[in-house]
Amino acid sequence: MACGKGEFLVRLAELYDISGVGVDISPYCIRDCLEKYRNRAPNSNIKFIEMDGAKYKPEPCELFDLAMCIGATWIYGGYRGTIQALKKMTKPGGLIAVGEPFWLKEPSEEYLKADGTRREDFGTHYDNVKVGEEEGLTCIYTLVSNHDDWDHYETLHCLAADEYVRANPDDPDVPELLERIRREKEIYLQWGRETMSWAVYVFRKP
Ligand SMILES: C[S@@+](CC[C@H](N)C(=O)[O-])C[C@H]1O[C@@H](n2cnc3c(N)ncnc32)[C@H](O)[C@@H]1O
Repeated sequence: MACGKGEFLVRLAELYDISGVGVDISPYCIRDCLEKYRNRAPNSNIKFIEMDGAKYKPEPCELFDLAMCIGATWIYGGYRGTIQALKKMTKPGGLIAVGEPFWLKEPSEEYLKADGTRREDFGTHYDNVKVGEEEGLTCIYTLVSNHDDWDHYETLHCLAADEYVRANPDDPDVPELLERIRREKEIYLQWGRETMSWAVYVFRKP
């Protein structure tokens, strides 16, 4: 769910003999997914669907061994809603993987205001594990990012913007793009880096 540019699904198809479905609302992402699929896993049984994930329902005979949503839990109104939605798509005994931020420490009011985030939008790492277990799942693995992972993720935005602006100096959106990147970098460096982290939570459905 919210498969982005399909990297995860295409890598799984390269490594294993899988079938799978990737859903994303962005036509640009789906275009990139299809290109990746043609170049790297043309014989695999994976398909990509451009639609609002909130409306996606697998066929009754199409429950998955693994359902995942990495970095897009707003689709289902938050983390708990995502776990509930993915549970309905997963076979008994199957896996659910959700990528979600968590608070490393209490966020300052300044940070919340600048970022437009609410304290209640996220829990702690422990809360994220607990929510899945309250939903009847067993947490079997967590993959927690460190500062280096976060820096890599955040600064790749800066690099991408820099490359885009150099290649497209006349694009009228350039000033807005640069201002947005500048602001996001500022918020991340001033507060986010020390306040928020990120993990992928893997649960087993009974
Ligand atoms: C942070 S990216 C994560 C992409 C991917 N999961 C990954 O790990 O590379 C968020 C993705 O959610 C997609 N998205 C946003 N709203 C969506 C919706 N309502 N339904 C489906 N996809 C959505 C965006 O197009 C974007 O590709």
